[in-house]
Amino acid sequence: MAHKLALIGFGTVGQGLAEILRAKADTLREGVGFEAQIVAVSDLLKGAVYHSDGLDIARLLEVIQTTGKLDAYPDLPGLERGWDSFRTIRESNADTVVEVSFTDINTGQPAIDHCRAAFESGKNVVMSNKGPVALAYAELSALAEEKGVRWCFEGTVLSGTPALRMPLTTLAGNDINEIRGIFNGTTNYILTQMEEETEYEDALRQAQKLGYAEADPSADVEGYDALGKIVILANVIMNAPLRKEDVPCQGISRLTMRDVMAAKAEGKRWKLIGRVRKDGEKVTARVGPEKVPWSDPLAGVMGAMNAITYVCDLAGPVTLVGAGAGRLETGYALLIDLINIERGTI
Ligand SMILES: NC(=O)c1ccc[n+]([C@@H]2O[C@H](COP(=O)([O-])OP(=O)(O)OC[C@H]3O[C@@H](n4cnc5c(N)ncnc54)[C@H](OP(=O)(O)O)[C@@H]3O)[C@@H](O)[C@H]2O)c1
Repeated sequence: MAHKLALIGFGTVGQGLAEILRAKADTLREGVGFEAQIVAVSDLLKGAVYHSDGLDIARLLEVIQTTGKLDAYPDLPGLERGWDSFRTIRESNADTVVEVSFTDINTGQPAIDHCRAAFESGKNVVMSNKGPVALAYAELSALAEEKGVRWCFEGTVLSGTPALRMPLTTLAGNDINEIRGIFNGTTNYILTQMEEETEYEDALRQAQKLGYAEADPSADVEGYDALGKIVILANVIMNAPLRKEDVPCQGISRLTMRDVMAAKAEGKRWKLIGRVRKDGEKVTARVGPEKVPWSDPLAGVMGAMNAITYVCDLAGPVTLVGAGAGRLETGYALLIDLINIERGTI
């Protein structure tokens, strides 16, 4: 039977998932044994549609891409319009809520309440929104467990690159005593450009032009985006109830092209590094610029790519390099969460 989905938010990532489900429906059904049906989409400004028998994904994409709204989705008997996020979560017949609204890294809302409402209604949640995982991991994972539902969020760290599932599954049995990585593509792109003799401000403008950086770039360049991911890793992989207030955080906005060139002359590269370390029972973390020697795999990660190294007691250091963002990459992160829910695996 098809896995029924309600999408909360229908921006870049929500549409990315819908595109994947449309394009790969046959491969997923035949190759993976996974079949999904979108029964509801509820977006703040783009509108909302719900049909308990499922929506036509191709039509959803066509109307959103041609009109920017869901109003032109064709009327059918049984079609409901205008349900807000909470009504959709509580009253739709979805098995799983796909929470892809915007991230508020200070309050986590309304996404934290979306998760609570879904779990209380007996629905799983998959999400790429960092807020709830960074701010309310303990509470929400306990609630999901109590209600017997699943909560998956692979896309919150390194989008479709399996930064969370790999240590939990493939590296199981190791003690992971340190995790360090490049968690923000915008800042890595800026630092890469600065090594090509571009001043910080010009490199930032280029990043904005390419769509890597927001008009207000502070979440990226001041390190707050990386901070959210480090807090998630500490909680989920190291089982330590770290809060973002516990983690010193500095961005790259004070680095100059001269600093970058001086490091290059020393055989090193400035990178915005997030790290979390376990010493006995004590877990500490920080985010800040570090001069990384070229011999470190993280030093070779250029442009908007991300990377993460797990320092394992048995397997040694294992580094994963991949995209940290993107429409299809993050849509894929949601898909792999859904496939694992369907399979009953982590
Ligand atoms: N894009 C990436 O590569 C990427 C990578 C990793 C993680 N993420 C995370 O994934 C999530 C989605 O990202 P995105 O790029 O798709 O963002 P986006 O393009 O801005 O889309 C977010 C959508 O959520 C809608 N929304 C906001 N609040 C809502 C609410 N209360 N109820 C219903 N809909 C609401 C917005 O509606 P309106 O615009 O109509 O107001 C918008 O359409 C974010 O949390 C982001 O941080 C994104």
